[in-house]
Amino acid sequence: MAEFKDGFLWGGATAANQYEGAYLEDGKGMSVADVMSVGSHQQPRRIGVEREEGVVYPYDFASDGYHRYSEDCALLKEMGFTCYRMSIAWARIFPNGDDAKPNEAGLRHYERVFSELREVGIEPVVTLSHNELPLNIVTSYGGWGDKRVIDMYVRYCITVFDRYRDLVRYWLPFNEVNNLLLPLGAFIQGGIYHDGTEYFTAQPDYLQERIDALNNVLIASARAVKAGRDINPDFHFGTMICHITQYPRTCCPEDQLLVQADDLYRNCMCSDVMLRGEYPYYAWTYFRRHGIELELSDEERADLKAGTCDFYTFSYYQSICQTTREDEFTDQTSGNIMGGVRNPYLELTDWDWPIDPVGLRYTLNKVYDRYRVPVMITENGLGAVDAVEEDCSIHDSYRIDYLRRHIEEMRKAVDDGVDLIGYTPWGCIDLVSVSTGEMKKRYGFIYVDADDEGNGTFDRYRKDSFYWYKKVIASNGEDLD
Ligand code: BG6
Repeated sequence: MAEFKDGFLWGGATAANQYEGAYLEDGKGMSVADVMSVGSHQQPRRIGVEREEGVVYPYDFASDGYHRYSEDCALLKEMGFTCYRMSIAWARIFPNGDDAKPNEAGLRHYERVFSELREVGIEPVVTLSHNELPLNIVTSYGGWGDKRVIDMYVRYCITVFDRYRDLVRYWLPFNEVNNLLLPLGAFIQGGIYHDGTEYFTAQPDYLQERIDALNNVLIASARAVKAGRDINPDFHFGTMICHITQYPRTCCPEDQLLVQADDLYRNCMCSDVMLRGEYPYYAWTYFRRHGIELELSDEERADLKAGTCDFYTFSYYQSICQTTREDEFTDQTSGNIMGGVRNPYLELTDWDWPIDPVGLRYTLNKVYDRYRVPVMITENGLGAVDAVEEDCSIHDSYRIDYLRRHIEEMRKAVDDGVDLIGYTPWGCIDLVSVSTGEMKKRYGFIYVDADDEGNGTFDRYRKDSFYWYKKVIASNGEDLD
């Protein structure tokens, strides 16, 4: 069987808002993340443009990574990471999004982080926007629907490209950009807020608004990519797609058509634009059928073409099943925010996400066949509750099992011929969950001693998976025992 290539990027991933804490330190402005309350699997997170008294906002403290990045960097190095995916909080650089000058303290912070990573031989893979839109863009501009936000984003990107041109080579313009195709993405990605909205999972929804915002995001991405290549031709730019792999629940032809259409729209449309430089035919069909009007100027069309990415990255946690025969298959995976009906062949996590390692091989082949560019898995992993023993050890065999089964399928995909260049499992250092705002939904190799309310020492402990992943990396994916 083929092996992972030499120089394969082994690492892990975090995002500033879920990891850093220090939410107003060193001149940082408020972002959309800072107005999302704690929640749980049963209790949806509250959102609003103002904070409420007596409510816990978990990103205030998160994993305290802003203060502990040096210690974390040493732990990542100890595991043998060759890359680390992280994000820059836009509101640390431009606190309000539209400021005349960037915030030097914010720029200096990431300079220190990138330099430390480089010093220990870890390649940073940097997301430019990961649910961290400055809140002022929501309250003063109404979010991404306003074309002026494109210029603000490009200016922010140029500022960091210039500053870190010798420290960072891999850039991801937007995290899970296609989630703006779901109502869930409206606030945290599109910056769209309507008075009276209370819950992250129950936002009033206007499709036209989301598509307008997404279109501006895609134009902004292309302009940033083009500007970045002018600054350093060695920069690499990747998509970041939330790939929700879909299967028809039955072999009835209508189920195939349903999945084909939804897969194109949800999983392929944004990467088609970002890698092929134009909206695909089925996007225009979808817009027409849903009464969406979208006009692009000649300049915007030219920019989409000129600013295409050069590698494909995606998050992969689960697959879903869809069917037209809903009366026959009533077993919804209700706790799973991605919807769908239950796949009887798959187990669920404690948060009801179906576990499907084979689907990862299927997906890798699908996306490589479609785009023929190098592929990186920039998120994958198991959110689970961990128990800490008296001696601070954590025996997370369930996580090792999940990751092992996924890496085995990655290896098979490499043998199938997929050009896979890297793997950064999510939340390598425990952090706050996006969907529920909990700390207790943990993904990490490194345990962070903090609870959902921010109580704890924030000390770091090595889990069993830490030692296991270290062996995996040292053997370039050969030793999975
Ligand atoms: C992805 C996001 O959707 O999934 C991450 O890019 C997120 O930010 C991850 O944390 C896991 O989801 P959750 O809800 O378990 O945090």
